[in-house]
Amino acid sequence: MKDKHFETMAIHAGGEEKKPDNALNDPIFMTSAFTFDSLEKADAAFAFETRDYVYTRGNNPTLRVLEERMAALEGGQGAVAFASGMAAISSVLLSLLKPGDEIVAHPMLYGSTQNFVKNILPRYGISSRLLNLADVSSLASALSDRTKVIYFETPVNPSLEIIDIRAICQIAGTRGIKVVVDNTFATPYFQRPLSLGADVVVHSATKYISGHGDVIAGIAVARDGDYVQELKFGYMCEFGGVMSPFTAWLLLRGLKTLALRMREHEQNALAVARYLNDHPRVKKVYYPGLPEFPGHGLAAAQMRGFGAMVSFEVDGSLAQSKQLVNSLKLFKLAVSLGDCESLVQHPFAMTHRDYTPAEVQEAGLSPGLVRLSIGLEHKEDLVADLELALAELN
Ligand SMILES: Cc1ncc(COP(=O)(O)O)c(C=O)c1O
Repeated sequence: MKDKHFETMAIHAGGEEKKPDNALNDPIFMTSAFTFDSLEKADAAFAFETRDYVYTRGNNPTLRVLEERMAALEGGQGAVAFASGMAAISSVLLSLLKPGDEIVAHPMLYGSTQNFVKNILPRYGISSRLLNLADVSSLASALSDRTKVIYFETPVNPSLEIIDIRAICQIAGTRGIKVVVDNTFATPYFQRPLSLGADVVVHSATKYISGHGDVIAGIAVARDGDYVQELKFGYMCEFGGVMSPFTAWLLLRGLKTLALRMREHEQNALAVARYLNDHPRVKKVYYPGLPEFPGHGLAAAQMRGFGAMVSFEVDGSLAQSKQLVNSLKLFKLAVSLGDCESLVQHPFAMTHRDYTPAEVQEAGLSPGLVRLSIGLEHKEDLVADLELALAELN
């Protein structure tokens, strides 16, 4: 299946065993445990000598299809499904770090990830350093012998900065440092960090992988099969952040249309970004698909599309940026992203509210930033909604 196109793998990869009763779709195996014909068979399953299942926290046929499909789409040796994106991120980081180690991360991260890296890991003797990874020129000299993981999102949430995955992996690789990339915004359709040298890719599958805003889910995909086994049985299984088989089934359904959706999301995003860019009440638009955006060239080189997240700053006060958010009608005021519905949120009042003023400044973002997740409605209706809200600005 690995030689097939993305669209084909998104529908067929993984779970290539014959399905029960010749079902076309994968059934949902809602069962906690699996039975054995004998103690000998149980023994073989516990020793990983067979692919038999034991207990859903360890493995389950619906989860296995999802994990194999995601591994194929990201080009990894295997994947581990988690109950949420944060379960995936926290488990991956704890699996790669031990007391005395250091993690280096980009200063702008999803709010809970930033809290985990900056405040929670140090409680376990793991120090964290935030470095501007969008500028790789000083990275090599900033690393120490204790640095064991480099972590970032690209495109970054919510600044849409683009970080050079290949350049970072080259520097990290010579020192045995693991590179973990959050690929939630791009999805494997637009970007495959493992093929650029990353060791582990993490996803909030709650977003585009699901695509329908009806689950909370996470996935980690890795280039090393032994590490996948360790992450699954040494961390996911023991920390207990397992995904429900029903969630896995919904994600398998979402994956079938991922390519279609991402292409359409992106077309809409480009139309919205161009509209905002030309609007006199808009000070700045953050969208990698705009040629004047600083990360455009790098995005064009390492991605095969620019995604559908657009951030912008109103030319006005903080209060006016909030007024604009409140006056949008079609864009729903909600956190999350990647759904069919277009969403708007105010990062520094919502997802990134725990950033201190100093951290906001270090990340170089205006507190009045507005973030849009461009959905699948007609682009003219989305532009009309923005037009009305911008016209109402006092
Ligand atoms: C980029 C990014 N990574 C990780 C997460 C966390 O994922 P989850 O909410 O599925 O735990 C989010 C959630 O919004 C996110 O936007």
